[in-house]
Amino acid sequence: MKDNKLDLGISARQMKALEKFALDKGYKSLPDYLLSLHKKNAQKEDPTTYEMPAKRGKLNSVYKTRRGQILHGDSLDWLHSSRNTKTVDLIMTSPPFGLTKKKAYGNEAAHAYVAWFRQFAEGFSNVLKDDGSLVIDIAGAWEKGYPVRSLYHFDVLTMLCREYGFNLCQEHYWWNPSKLPSPAQWVNVYRSRVKDSVNCVWWLSKSKHPKADNTKILAPYSTRMEEVLKSGIKSNSRLPSGHSVTSKFNKDNGGAIPPNLIALANSESNGAYFQYCKDYGFDIHPARFPQGLPEYFIKFLTDPNDLVVDPFGGSSMTGYVAEKLGRKWRSIEMDELYALSGTGRFLDKSPMKSTTTKYEIFSPCFDAKNKK
Ligand SMILES: C[S@@+](CC[C@H](N)C(=O)[O-])C[C@H]1O[C@@H](n2cnc3c(N)ncnc32)[C@H](O)[C@@H]1O
Repeated sequence: MKDNKLDLGISARQMKALEKFALDKGYKSLPDYLLSLHKKNAQKEDPTTYEMPAKRGKLNSVYKTRRGQILHGDSLDWLHSSRNTKTVDLIMTSPPFGLTKKKAYGNEAAHAYVAWFRQFAEGFSNVLKDDGSLVIDIAGAWEKGYPVRSLYHFDVLTMLCREYGFNLCQEHYWWNPSKLPSPAQWVNVYRSRVKDSVNCVWWLSKSKHPKADNTKILAPYSTRMEEVLKSGIKSNSRLPSGHSVTSKFNKDNGGAIPPNLIALANSESNGAYFQYCKDYGFDIHPARFPQGLPEYFIKFLTDPNDLVVDPFGGSSMTGYVAEKLGRKWRSIEMDELYALSGTGRFLDKSPMKSTTTKYEIFSPCFDAKNKK
């Protein structure tokens, strides 16, 4: 970039030819011609491109602690404010899924979703620090009336990386063992699809080396590893995969490095939030994520006093976990009743309990005839 002008990396001769072409076509200048070309193409590709409203509304603080706030309003206000530029260490969020329930799913809906999401992508890019992370929990969707998956969540990922320069640090998958079989038509009636029980969780960042430390999120060792640690590996051996098992494996590192499959049931059904909603007649938020999801990423990707933001705050689970872990936080929610009912979580003043649960998962193709 020179004097705010972009160097397009084309030769002087090519530039002259382009300028001549633009003038011959009746454009005032080459930039005018290029911008008009871009606009035409963008509209063809994406007829639903959103324009940013010139003036945005005010965000209201509905709950405040020393470290954070629940804000009611459109998070785009916060994300696009120059006051918040490069202030955030982690965006931990779960946007509304599939978006256009009213419209058909499939290409068109995916297209509209991506166009809608671009305004947030721009805001995320504004507020994130260079070594910060963006974590998006996003469920898949089915095309309306067909046992076929929408591509919208992959389109969102591609858009964030290709258009906004985010790096995909590592995809994670959140497996919910308590998920019921759905959609019933294809899974239970036609029996032509299997139970959909994982959400994609895209972990993205501006830099290729964002702040991250996996020693903060260790899982318990497996029984086999516990045995190895007790008896010790005496001699070096090479596995068929080419990996070497050496006496270095004898070292107890305090726990196992977890895989990118996060096994967590979403079975919260009591506690301060539920009681508060019951007492004050609020609807329970229908798309809450479990405490363990923000807990994993907040511990993994931030330090105490870092700023964690959830721009699709819902019932303020991210804010609640950030508060308990000593991080600064903002939970921004557009629906006033969800924003208000989220305050119920903070009535629980006890330290947050982390629970590590062991789930069992069988490999498929069970021989039912010979079962014991
Ligand atoms: C999938 S839910 C998030 C649930 C949350 N993770 C929890 O555990 O409760 C998405 C939320 O985003 C909110 N939302 C959608 N657009 C928004 C916007 N522009 N600003 C703030 N909130 C928005 C919706 O009202 C909805 O509550």
